[in-house]
Amino acid sequence: MTHETDPSPPDERRSFLTKAAAIIIGGFVGFVPFAAGLATFLDPVFRKSNASKALKIASLDSLPADGVPRQFPVVSDQTDAWNQNSNQPIGAVYLRRLPDSEMIEAFNAACPHAGCAVDFKPNAGEAGLFQCPCHKSDFKPDGARLDPETCPSPRDLDPLPVDAEKLKQGEVWIEFMNFQTGPERKPIT
Ligand code: FES
Repeated sequence: MTHETDPSPPDERRSFLTKAAAIIIGGFVGFVPFAAGLATFLDPVFRKSNASKALKIASLDSLPADGVPRQFPVVSDQTDAWNQNSNQPIGAVYLRRLPDSEMIEAFNAACPHAGCAVDFKPNAGEAGLFQCPCHKSDFKPDGARLDPETCPSPRDLDPLPVDAEKLKQGEVWIEFMNFQTGPERKPIT
């Protein structure tokens, strides 16, 4: 009876196994980022853009010049790789027309602490307060924290740019964006 034996010398076999292992590991290491990139490319959720958008929110005439903030929903068309959806809710804003003026202040209605929607209570404080129902942050009508020392929110409400040219034409357009929560004001992109 005969036994088949591997004719390769031991050093050659070791070298072959080392190279094979290197190719397999190298292929796997390269595959992980490739797969992640492919998933990002193919998944429309990842490709959805949250960048800032210029949006008409209201007409100037519809805002009483009394310094009281009014809340408006913000809707926009959303497009991803496969779908286009019209008038999707993307947030909310408060618009405040300063007394006897055409100046408009705009704030994102999300609390910078953890993102809950703030309410404006006209009878709270001296001239009304934005109040967050989640952890009791209070903000003055101009968006500043009532007491920064004790306020759970690490920053004031997030102001949004108002288009001055459109305002002259009687329309309130804002550059809408959502922000990350936390101490720093960073737009979500
Ligand atoms: S989310 Fe507003 S105080 Fe916490």
